[in-house]
Amino acid sequence: MKAIRYHGPDQPFILEQVAIPEPGPGQVRVKITAAGMCHTELHFMSGVLNLGVHPLTMGHEIVGHIDAVGPNVKSSRVGERVIVYYYAGCGKCRYCRTGEEQICQDLQEEYGFISDGGYAEYIAVPERNAVPLPDNIDDVHAAPIGCGVTTAVHAARLTGLKSREWAVIYGAGSVGFGLIQLAKAQGANVIAIGRTTAKLKQADSLGADICLDATKVKTAEEVRRITGGHGADVVFECVGSTETMPLAAQMLGRRGRLIFIGYTGPDFHINPVQLIVFEQKIMGSVGASLEDLYTAVDLVSTGLVRTIIDRTLPLGEFANGIEHLKSGKLVGKAVLVP
Ligand SMILES: NC(=O)c1ccc[n+]([C@@H]2O[C@H](COP(=O)([O-])OP(=O)(O)OC[C@H]3O[C@@H](n4cnc5c(N)ncnc54)[C@H](OP(=O)(O)O)[C@@H]3O)[C@@H](O)[C@H]2O)c1
Ligand SMILES: [Zn+2]
Ligand SMILES: [Zn+2]
Repeated sequence: MKAIRYHGPDQPFILEQVAIPEPGPGQVRVKITAAGMCHTELHFMSGVLNLGVHPLTMGHEIVGHIDAVGPNVKSSRVGERVIVYYYAGCGKCRYCRTGEEQICQDLQEEYGFISDGGYAEYIAVPERNAVPLPDNIDDVHAAPIGCGVTTAVHAARLTGLKSREWAVIYGAGSVGFGLIQLAKAQGANVIAIGRTTAKLKQADSLGADICLDATKVKTAEEVRRITGGHGADVVFECVGSTETMPLAAQMLGRRGRLIFIGYTGPDFHINPVQLIVFEQKIMGSVGASLEDLYTAVDLVSTGLVRTIIDRTLPLGEFANGIEHLKSGKLVGKAVLVP
């Protein structure tokens, strides 16, 4: 089968022929019909994220249908439309025991990160990782649920975002679009920050109360002004650059939570006095739990969250998707359709 393979930092992704995986005991094989491209793949290319595993098939937003099952899996699952949960934890550590396998101490698989992922025609995964998709979400629109929407669900859960709180979504991109809708659905007041007019228009149409163009306003001062001096209750940092990180910290209010989702390489510095006197929290959010994926599928199925697709591409044109992702021109996801 065809697969797009990563060969280490500063190397191009290459379309190669690899063997079709056979489902092992307890596994299903998914015939992939849609695979979303994530900003994280740019971090693999640049080396900002280097997990040391290559060659590796990229892609962690994986949708398709089950075409074969391994031993100990009911054959009735063949034909089911599914989305793949991209972590497989050890099932034994204290984090797996509470369903938080994204921080498993002995991770077995992470598709598209340390295990072969979804930029391919087939993938074999444990049957619990193949989560059923309702008929009212088509394959292409389902793909961004796998990371984009689940990341939003997970981060919002960690912050304990409450209704009437001020939530800032710093970085109106793929994860940001999910967060805007989720925060609105949870009753928060939402400020979206971006730099590109088309993405800010999209943020507005998804329900953001206020959209700020970071090229035109001083974002931290503007958030303080909008919130009557209080500052944001929650800042979702979806960029993580030297420019945005200090601003995200400056706009945080008393008891504010700053949660890092995006990163670009540089360190973040803060004086603890700010955290102490305003009782603020800084945290990180990685991936999502299996339950977060079930929640994300429900949110899209019930129409509370829409996924935004910029374009679909055949596997052979993945380089076009990567170029557009890099240039920041995509408004929504590029989805590969193997
Ligand atoms: N923690 C996790 O589990 C997890 C999961 C998924 C993704 N991520 C990471 O989260 C980040 C966002 O991912 P994504 O898929 O949403 O990427 P994306 O679609 O590229 O969105 C990032 C957005 O940030 C905006 N941005 C960049 N610099 C900015 C600045 N200085 N001021 C204001 N806005 C700025 C960009 O808008 P413009 O193009 O207009 O500048 C873009 O829309 C990436 O670093 C990704 O690797 C983390
Ligand atoms: Zn992702
Ligand atoms: Zn574990």
